[in-house]
Amino acid sequence: MKAIQAARGTRDLLPPETELWNHIEATARRVFARYCFGEIRTPIFEDTQLFARSVGEETDIVSKEMYTWEDRARAQSEKAQSLTLRPENTAGVVRAYIEHKLGESGLLQKLYYIGPQFRRERPQKGRYRQFYQIGAEVIGPTSAGSESPLRDAEVLEMLATLLGELGIVDWKLYLNSVGSASDRPRYVLALQEALKEIAPKLCADCQRRAQTNPLRVLDCKIPEDQPFIETLPKIAEFLDANSRVHFAQVCAALDACGVPFILNPRLVRGLDYYTRTTFEFVHAGLGAQNALLGGGRYDGLSEAIGGPKAPGIGFAMGADRLVLTLQAQQEAPSAMPRLADAYIAPLGEAQQEQALVLARELRQAGLRVELGDGNFRIKKSFEVGNRLARRIVLFGEEEAQSGIMTVKDFASGAQTKVPRAELAQALQRK
Ligand code: HAM
Repeated sequence: MKAIQAARGTRDLLPPETELWNHIEATARRVFARYCFGEIRTPIFEDTQLFARSVGEETDIVSKEMYTWEDRARAQSEKAQSLTLRPENTAGVVRAYIEHKLGESGLLQKLYYIGPQFRRERPQKGRYRQFYQIGAEVIGPTSAGSESPLRDAEVLEMLATLLGELGIVDWKLYLNSVGSASDRPRYVLALQEALKEIAPKLCADCQRRAQTNPLRVLDCKIPEDQPFIETLPKIAEFLDANSRVHFAQVCAALDACGVPFILNPRLVRGLDYYTRTTFEFVHAGLGAQNALLGGGRYDGLSEAIGGPKAPGIGFAMGADRLVLTLQAQQEAPSAMPRLADAYIAPLGEAQQEQALVLARELRQAGLRVELGDGNFRIKKSFEVGNRLARRIVLFGEEEAQSGIMTVKDFASGAQTKVPRAELAQALQRK
C-alpha cells in the first residue's frame, strides 16, 4: 500500500531543527516583553468575510489562495457559514480588538502572535502552504497616539533589534508610504489613466486588476510586465502634506536611532488594508522569496470590518524564512543532535523499575537523561548509549545493592565508580 504523505506545501518540523524554531520563538518573546507587548492567540479559522473585507477581494491572497469551505449547520440554531483558514493574522487581531472592545481602555494595545497561516501558493524554497508567522500589532484610538510616526519608528527599531538578537545579519529594510485613504483616490485615478494605454500589453490578471483594483497591478510578479509597470506613476507624487510630514517623521526617527533603510516607491504590498507607512525586510540569502518580514500601517482597517476608528501598525515575520536564513548563515546550532548527559542502562529486566527511579533522580537534578532498556544485551546498550549520550551508567544488581555506579565516558573511554549520592554532580562535569 502506498504510504500517505504530508499534503503538498506542508511539512513536518522535526528535532533537532525544532530547537532552532524554539530558539527563534523564545528570542522573539523575550524582545516583545522588553517592548511591553502581550501575546494574543486568535482562532486558526475565521468567517471568510473577515479576510474579504480587510485583505481585499482582489488580492492574490483572497482571490486565489485561501482555504475556504462551507461549514454546514449542525443544529437549527446554527447557520451555515463560509469559513477560511487564516491566511494572515492582522485581520483576526483587529477583529478581536473590536469584539473585546479593547479600545475602551483608551490605551494603545500592543499584541504579538506566533502561529501557522495558510495560503494555497505554489510551494518552493521559503514558500509553503502552511507557514508560520511571528507578528505584532500596535493599535488603538487616535487619542492614545496610535497614528504617531513614533509608533512606526518604534516598531521598526524593535525589528532591527530582534533580527540582531537572532543573529541575522545583512538584512535590508525597504520603506515606503502608500498615502492615506484620502490620497488614494487621486493616485488610483492617475493609475487608471496610465493603465488605459498599457493594460492591453499586461497579463490577464493585470488587465482585470486595472478595472477592479488598479493598485494591485503593482504586485504583479510577471517579468514581461515589469518594464510597463515601471512607467506607471509613483504614489509618492500623490501624497498630501499630512502624509508627507508623517513619512518624513518616520524616516527622521529611524535616522535618529541609527536604523538604516532604503526608500522603495514601488513597495505597495499585496494586501489592501495598508495606509501610509509600508515596509519589508529582505535578505539576499533567501533567493526568490527574499522577504523575511513585511508590514505597515492600517489606519482604516478597524472601520472596514465594522469597528471604531482604530489606526494601527504591525508586521509579520516568516518564521520559516528566519530558520532558512540562520541555517544558511552559520553552522546551524541545532544541526548536530545534542547528546544527553547520561544513558542509564538497566542490566536485566529486574533492574528496570529502579533504573527508572535513578533516571528520575538525575532528571530532577537537572540532567538530560536517556533511559535504556533492560531487555537489551550489554553490547546493544553500549551501542545505543553511544549514539544518544556522552556517558553510560551501568545499573545492574550489583550497582543496585552497593549503591556504587559504574560510569563510562564515551569520548575518553574512562570508566569510574561513583557513589549514587555523588552521581548527579559527577555527570554535571564536562
Ligand atoms: P505578508 O507580507 O503577506 O504580510 O506576510 C508576512 C511574511 O510572512 C512575509 O514577509 C514572509 O516572510 C512570510 N510569508 C508569507 N507567505 C508565506 C508563505 N507562503 N510561506 C512562507 N512564508 C510566508 C502579512 O501577512 C501581514 N499580516 C503583515 C502585517 C502585520 N501587516 C501589518 N501587520
